[in-house]
Amino acid sequence: MEEALLSIEGLKTYFFTEAGVVKAVDGISFSLMKGESLGLVGESGSGKTVTALSVLRIVPKPGKITGGKIEFSGKNLLKNTEKEMQQMRGSEIAIIFQDPSSSLNPVYTVETQLTDVVMAHQTVSRSEAKRKAIEILNLVGIPEAETRMREYPHQFSGGMKQRVAIARALACQPTLLFADEPTTNLDVTIQAQVLNLLNDLKKKLGMSLVMITHDMGVIAEMTSRIVVLYAGRVCEIAGTNELFERPKHPYTESLLAAVPRLDMRKTLRVIPGNIPNLITPPSGCRFHPRCSYAKPACKQRIPILEEIKPRHIIACHEWRNISLTGEKAAD
Ligand SMILES: Nc1ncnc2c1ncn2[C@@H]1O[C@H](COP(=O)(O)OP(=O)(O)OP(=O)(O)O)[C@@H](O)[C@H]1O
Ligand code: SF4
Ligand SMILES: [Mg+2]
Repeated sequence: MEEALLSIEGLKTYFFTEAGVVKAVDGISFSLMKGESLGLVGESGSGKTVTALSVLRIVPKPGKITGGKIEFSGKNLLKNTEKEMQQMRGSEIAIIFQDPSSSLNPVYTVETQLTDVVMAHQTVSRSEAKRKAIEILNLVGIPEAETRMREYPHQFSGGMKQRVAIARALACQPTLLFADEPTTNLDVTIQAQVLNLLNDLKKKLGMSLVMITHDMGVIAEMTSRIVVLYAGRVCEIAGTNELFERPKHPYTESLLAAVPRLDMRKTLRVIPGNIPNLITPPSGCRFHPRCSYAKPACKQRIPILEEIKPRHIIACHEWRNISLTGEKAAD
């Protein structure tokens, strides 16, 4: 049997704001195998980033993980002390964000930042750490790494800065990398380079990757399995080809309606209706106000995740009664 590296069960992360409790992540479950590339997809506000921040235990205030289990290499991360988590961040689990500046410190040179990261997690001398930093900058494709590492983050172009951020994340060879919209701010050609780089590094280092994006084209190219989120819950989980060709959840169908062909990159089109308010989310199935297949029971009962065939999991009361179109049919 395949071994899960990360297993999330019934995760709940809420934000306790003055306006009320925002149920950003409300009972999310999925797992990730060793060496797997998993996509997390869903409209803005569906809980993708909050899920990643929860695994790293860096949810900002007023957010709080209020329930569930996050097992990483068989250990429940929610039981770890902050010190244990600090050790784990970077050395085992790392994250890169849309804005590379958010993971780089503007007042230190790239050399200082990378060697500090290496030294925080490994018992090596500064000169050995510097050697490792040069190695990783070469790996992510920074030309003249030894000279350029003496520069500050602002001296790098957007694409190069994202490479430096990736280098920082990889400095201790994490087993799991979250990439949260890592190419959204970059030019299309640079986007492709950074995605290829991530793919290469994943193979070379044997990492598992969770790719968070709005871009169904990126998801199709980069992942072998996809978790579709809607309003803080999982709608559907399936292998990438299976999901694109035989979606079973009405929400997945609306996401795919934006992608005429696998080889064409397109961002999500706007799906009719509003993204729900997560302080007072819709009852039952949260998608019901926007779902053209909704029946009265959808308003009343929360659909639970069920495995409808091996490795294809969905949460929808009506899946047996509806026939959906995948991306091929949308041509
Ligand atoms: N600091 C915060 N305070 C209150 N609510 C928050 C906070 N951070 C996130 N949320 C809420 O949590 C929900 C999920 O947000 P999250 O950032 O995970 O969405 P996302 O799927 O990553 O969206 P996007 O595609 O726009 O990045 C949203 O409704 C958001 O408003
Ligand atoms: S449970 Fe009902 S409302 Fe929700 S997606 Fe399925 S059919 Fe639509
Ligand atoms: Mg996000």
